[in-house]
Amino acid sequence: MATILVLHGPNLNLLGSREPATYGTVSLDQINTQLTDICIDRGHHLLALQSNAEYELIDRIQEAKNEGVNYIIFNPAALTHTSVALRDTLLAVDIPFIEVHLSNVYAREEFRRRSFFSDIARGVICGFGAKGYVLALEAALEDLK
Ligand code: DQA
Repeated sequence: MATILVLHGPNLNLLGSREPATYGTVSLDQINTQLTDICIDRGHHLLALQSNAEYELIDRIQEAKNEGVNYIIFNPAALTHTSVALRDTLLAVDIPFIEVHLSNVYAREEFRRRSFFSDIARGVICGFGAKGYVLALEAALEDLK
């Protein structure tokens, strides 16, 4: 049995109503429920956190190491483009992670093309909306086999 942690960064609590043309109409609860169901079905355990605060995401990743989390699925949201601190945390704990974005960040503003995570991630999935989280979970479970 593997433990997977899914982390959602700032403003992703608004999914469903936030800029639906860009981020879709699926809510964060629906995403987490779908991932939980897949994990239960396959005999794995899913933990989830959304936070608007960088330090809470840092604390949660540090805690994940002590808890024996095997894999992280992470949408750092706007912190993707700014957070050296979160990058350092992921390097420190050395837990494999997949970076997920609902939108295709390469087809948007120039500043969204820079990520502090992509080069240290196991992989990156972007542009497939909420389905990207399911694709990431499938990839993570395959990786853990
Ligand atoms: C996002 C893309 C980021 O640029 C943006 O700041 C977000 C969401 C995405 O999922 O497409 O908040 O990570």
